[in-house]
Amino acid sequence: MALVATAETTRKLDAHALRADFPIFEQRPHGKPLAFLDSAASSQKPRQVLDAMTTFYETSYANVHRGVYELAERATAGLEHARERVRAFLNAPDAREVIFVRNATEGINLVAYGWGLKNLGPGDLVVVTELEHHSNFVPWQYIAGKTGAELRMIPLDEHGELELSALDAIAREGNVKLVATGLVSNSLGTINPVSKLVEWAHEQGAIYVCDAAQGAPHTKIDVQALGVDFLAISGHKMCGPSGASALWGRTDLLLAMDPFLTGGHMINSVRLEKTTWGELPHKFEAGTAPMAEAVGLGAAIDYLEAIGLDAIEAHEHELAAYALGKLAEVPGIQLYGPPANRRAGIVSFNIEGIHPHDVAQILDMQGVAIRAGHHCCQPLMQKLGVAATNRASFYLYTIPEEIDQLVEGLHTVRKVFA
Ligand SMILES: Cc1ncc(COP(=O)(O)O)c(C=O)c1O
Repeated sequence: MALVATAETTRKLDAHALRADFPIFEQRPHGKPLAFLDSAASSQKPRQVLDAMTTFYETSYANVHRGVYELAERATAGLEHARERVRAFLNAPDAREVIFVRNATEGINLVAYGWGLKNLGPGDLVVVTELEHHSNFVPWQYIAGKTGAELRMIPLDEHGELELSALDAIAREGNVKLVATGLVSNSLGTINPVSKLVEWAHEQGAIYVCDAAQGAPHTKIDVQALGVDFLAISGHKMCGPSGASALWGRTDLLLAMDPFLTGGHMINSVRLEKTTWGELPHKFEAGTAPMAEAVGLGAAIDYLEAIGLDAIEAHEHELAAYALGKLAEVPGIQLYGPPANRRAGIVSFNIEGIHPHDVAQILDMQGVAIRAGHHCCQPLMQKLGVAATNRASFYLYTIPEEIDQLVEGLHTVRKVFA
């Protein structure tokens, strides 16, 4: 995985041209150009994705896997094609290992309930990090509490990067059974050393779960090269619609797990005495699938791959460097997280004496959309000693002019509060 792209190998994307694919940028909030700097929360959608979903609804819509008529077969083929697109996107060995879920949170819960309830117990440790999004923290805390296992956090250093030197001490405290970390921090943009974490987890005899909600939109992921055991992606953060995301897991682990949700579609046979589970991936896909949304996710993958994940990653590194440089000139600003070359396109900051919500509200009047709050990372906020930060996050359609608009807006914020 080339997290820092090199000039020789990287295609360059044209964000100004790509913006034409995104109808959202046609609007002018408060009479200003829209500077959308909240893509880490959810990305905007290109016409290609919207059109793929509309075409599916208009030409191929029926419930999948059940009907024997042509329309149902077409709908099923659409869903299964999307599954194959996710498989290829992650370089997973088998499409049956790709489970459609509503969002990354549901994917992580599926592992926490399906694997954790069965395999964790007293004396076992579940290891997360101080950077974690609540979606990769709370499910583990909850399942640890239910099973008698304990939760440990890998701490952060002063740059907001993981202190790997703490791993040995953690290993001495119990049986490390599961390690769950993000690939990219949604608050600081920190890129975690996943391969090293996987190696350590496996040395402990643990499985490794990767929360790639922020990684998958921005960098090429290869689950086989990374060696992870489970990996969750968030479709709505990578140009796909809300409602369709995916969990990938190793076949042997998925087969040995209990289902997460039960009901229609996920069964093999149902009798009063006993129900048996369906084959993969159906065992984990109870109820009607997010069919049109999955088709949209497949189209989003086509869109990202046509641009090139390497080009997207390089673009974000450039924007992060540009933003960190420009923001550093704003008086009273406190920037959090690692240097630009070690982070994705996410920048968190605070302006001395001004609450992040006030900053975000005044920026909104200038057409700038950023996020203010704890970003679902309260343990991290505690570490930083703040209740909240402002966060600007970038994507393939972000242009430097939006960052200029943000910086100009911050000068206005300071004048308002002077
Ligand atoms: C790092 C990280 N993990 C998990 C999630 C949850 O993703 P989803 O909204 O798909 O459940 C997010 C969303 O912000 C995130 O940033």
